[in-house]
This record gives sequence, C-alpha cells and structure tokens, in this order.
Amino acid sequence: MGKKKTILDLVQMKQRGEKASWVTAYDFPMASFAEQAGIDMILVGDSLGMVVLGYEGTVPVTMDDCIAHSQAVRRGAPNTFIIGDMPFGSYQVSDEEAVRNACRFLKEADTDAIKLEGGRRVLSRIKAISDAGILVFGHIGLTPQSSGQLGGFKAQGRTVESARELIKDALAIQEAGAGALLLEAVPPELTAYIANKLTIPVYSIGAGLPCDGQLIICGDMLGLFQAFTPKFVKKYANVAEIITKAFEEYIADVKGEKFPEDKHVYHITDAPEAFEALFKEFE
Ligand code: KIV
Repeated sequence: MGKKKTILDLVQMKQRGEKASWVTAYDFPMASFAEQAGIDMILVGDSLGMVVLGYEGTVPVTMDDCIAHSQAVRRGAPNTFIIGDMPFGSYQVSDEEAVRNACRFLKEADTDAIKLEGGRRVLSRIKAISDAGILVFGHIGLTPQSSGQLGGFKAQGRTVESARELIKDALAIQEAGAGALLLEAVPPELTAYIANKLTIPVYSIGAGLPCDGQLIICGDMLGLFQAFTPKFVKKYANVAEIITKAFEEYIADVKGEKFPEDKHVYHITDAPEAFEALFKEFE
C-alpha cells in the first residue's frame, strides 16, 4: 500500500509529467477497492445524489449527506488523498458559511481538501476557505450544480468567447489560493493551454488528455449508474449486469428451494432424539 499523497506530491507529479488517477467513491467498499487498486485520489462527489441516492441531479444533496459519505470513504481508504465536494447551498450564501461548511469536511470526515464549483463568482469563497488553512480544489467548465443556468449538462469553452471566460476563471482561481483545478467537459485544446499556464495541478473530467490527471465517476466507469452515460466516459466494467444476474439466480434458487444447501446451515450438536423430546415438551 502506497503512502498517502499530499498536495506537494501532486504538484511534483505535475512537474515531472506523471498523471494522477482520480475516481469518485461514496461508501466504504468502493473506497477500499479504489485504495487497494492504488488510486492517487478519491472525490466524494455530490454526484452521490444521482449515483447513490437516486436524485435526478446534485442540487438536493445536503452537507450531512456529504459528511456521512465522506466518513465512510475515509474509513475505507485511510491512506488515500480524499477531496470532499461542497454541495449546492453549502457555499452560495456567504464566505462565513462556506468556511464553516468546509471546516466540517476536515473536522468530521478527515478529508484532505474540499472542492467547489465556479469561477470568478466564487473567488471570495475560495480565498476565505484557503485563508482558513483548507486546501481548495476549483471546478470550472460544466458545473453540474449550475446546469440550470448552463441550459443542461453541456460542454463548455468550445467558442473563443466561452474559452476566454474560462481562462480568466482559471487564472483567478489560482490567484485566489486554490491548490488544484478540475476542468469538466471542455475541449482538449483549452485544457492543454490552462494546464500549461497554471502552476497548480489541473485535472480533467471529460476535458481530454493534456493535463495533470483524470477524474472519472465510479458509477459511470463501472456501469453502476444506468440513467445516462456522458460521451466522455469509458466503461471498464458492467457491474449492474453482474449484480442483476446474481439477484436473478438467487431468486430462482429461493423459489426452487436450491438455497440454502446443507453447507449453508448450522447442525445440531446434541442427539436428534434429544431435540425430538424438546419439541414434544411444547406440544
Ligand atoms: O460530484 C462529482 O462527482 C463531481 C464531478 C462531476 C466532477 O463534481
């Protein structure tokens, strides 16, 4: 098992061109599988709303949801760098509330950093949280919490005008004190430019190869989340199919009395006659 990474390791990886692997996880088993596989970082994303809690989007997810899931992930991956995702409503109101909620991730769930969505409009939040001594990951491009404003889950930065705004956001986020930046669903040309321009690590989810590492949602890559699959997802397994098949076999076994078998039961240790006598006592 590798040593837990720090932000210094992530910066050094950027400097020597080593890519960081990053995946979401929301519970103990998934976190432990990711750690056993040697993942560099885990995001306890508010995508848990869709992947685990069955909401249509991320907006209903609460701080308490995020803390409970981050705690489970920390228990599953004690030696992995973990980022807690600030849910919608936890940092929109004021710098003070944002700092208070960011503190909860570190105090209650032992995360190493927090992530929040948005560019220049959340700069004072990024600065306030960084000034409180908390490592911040920025997130721009397709920002799911504001998908309503963006007109849906749409790629960003495809025109010069939109790319210019994202470059300004990226520079401002670094300047405000963020330790890393995530780009979501932007073209690789823009990703390459921003990753070269910034000294902090720049990661991609659906933003192509030319940056410092990749994030993917576990539910997407494992085939657990079935509602839709974004273009940028590579499926590495179809776990939903395996689970459904296992449930079908179990149901058939129960109906056909093929489960449990003799090896699945506990046998009596006294003589059968003693048990017959016992049962008679109650007749
Ligand atoms: O919640 C999440 O998993 C995220 C990713 C979509 C980047 O924020």
